[in-house]
Amino acid sequence: MTEQKRSWAEPYKIKMVELLKMTSKEDRQKAIAEAGYNTFLLKSEDVYIDLLTDSGTSAMSDRQWAALMMGDEAYAGSANFYNLEKVVREYYTYKELIPTHQGRGAEHIMSRLLIKEGDYVPGNMYFTTTRLHQELAGGKFVDVIVDEAHDAGSEYPWKGNVCMKKMQKLVDEVGADKIPYISLEGCVNMAGGQPFSMANLRELKAFCDKYKIMIMLDATRCCENSYFIQQNEKGYENKSVKEILHEMCAMTDGCTISAKKDSLVNIGGFFACNDPDLAAKARNMCVMYEGLHTYGGLAGRDMEAMAIGIQESAMDSHQKARIGQVHYLGEKLLKAGIPLVTPFGGHAIFLDAKKFLPHLNQEEFPAQALAAALYVESGVRAMERGNISAGRDPETKKNRNPKLELVRLTIPRRVYTQAHMDVVAESVIALYEKRSQIKGLEFVYEPEHLRFFQATFKPKA
Ligand code: F0G
Repeated sequence: MTEQKRSWAEPYKIKMVELLKMTSKEDRQKAIAEAGYNTFLLKSEDVYIDLLTDSGTSAMSDRQWAALMMGDEAYAGSANFYNLEKVVREYYTYKELIPTHQGRGAEHIMSRLLIKEGDYVPGNMYFTTTRLHQELAGGKFVDVIVDEAHDAGSEYPWKGNVCMKKMQKLVDEVGADKIPYISLEGCVNMAGGQPFSMANLRELKAFCDKYKIMIMLDATRCCENSYFIQQNEKGYENKSVKEILHEMCAMTDGCTISAKKDSLVNIGGFFACNDPDLAAKARNMCVMYEGLHTYGGLAGRDMEAMAIGIQESAMDSHQKARIGQVHYLGEKLLKAGIPLVTPFGGHAIFLDAKKFLPHLNQEEFPAQALAAALYVESGVRAMERGNISAGRDPETKKNRNPKLELVRLTIPRRVYTQAHMDVVAESVIALYEKRSQIKGLEFVYEPEHLRFFQATFKPKA
């Protein structure tokens, strides 16, 4: 047997457990109705297996917990900031670090500094908070991801790639001086956790150098992206995740990161770059919106846990088990004929709600309805990533009706076992057998920004 075909196992053992609460179907029916059919509004104590998100939900290691005791809670110049800075330089290459309370804090600072009213910001698909901050800063997001990314069934292995033709078209139409940077996300969340290839980044860098457009990485899941490159891109099979991450970041001008994902902490994020002038401006913004630039809204202990989490996240053995577990769930569902986004991405398995619920039209919010029904069926909490997440077009005010109408089964890192994955698969399969009974939803309350977090619904009559 070759090394790759052997089954993976977690590269850790369990020292402490958290008991789960089981609920009855009647309890769950009541809970989802009270939550307005929005899984974000459920109380976590009413959830059995929580696959809402991989954000801030990972299990920290004993080394990270021990690091909390090393918190230097000085207002200014905390030792933990300097430790974090050293680790960020070593793993992500950027010289300048501005910590923030989480990813969107960094997105806010970067968008305000780099985008002028009337600018265009291309990206390999939108992310909800990222695009919102671009729009609030006066920019217009332009999707330049490859077409395959919008096709749930396409088997293309690099669905996170940027389409260079779309980039060229944008430059030709609006002019490079209206494009401050491209926002490049690793393991593109909204496409299903899909990676870009190093070859694509190299091509993008040559293009951006020519037109003097910066590349700003959304490095939230770039360790996972690096693992895909190691596994699937020629020439990288003998490189470590850390080496690949290094090479990736070195081709870009800076990054925002939500450390709540890859970096294995419950809270935290940062903006990082190489340009000292940009960093000085970012530090000044940080003090207004996040906190002094040596803590950015975080406690010293959080920065220390992050420094260790970054090192653990780039371990090959960690990524092998992490992505191995996600793919284990995917294979089980695929075998049972459940419509899914393929190839499987890094952090989640995505159900294709349009195919799962062909009797609903997209204005009846199939993914939202499916996530609610899965919860009632099994106590498994998932998240809508479709029409509700996409929101309304700021000009036409119409629902964006994206091609992808997905339910995300997001796997927290180092939290659940293979047996939990079996239970999740059985729950989805049981629901698939009675899918025709699932009704569409209509809005009861629709907030103005990032509506998916707080909207409420009722079943359509
Ligand atoms: N960028 C990406 C790619 C993300 O997935 C997220 C958050 C952010 C930025 C924002 O970071 O939450 O720390 O402010 N994604 C979470 C999720 C919410 O569930 O996918 P944040």
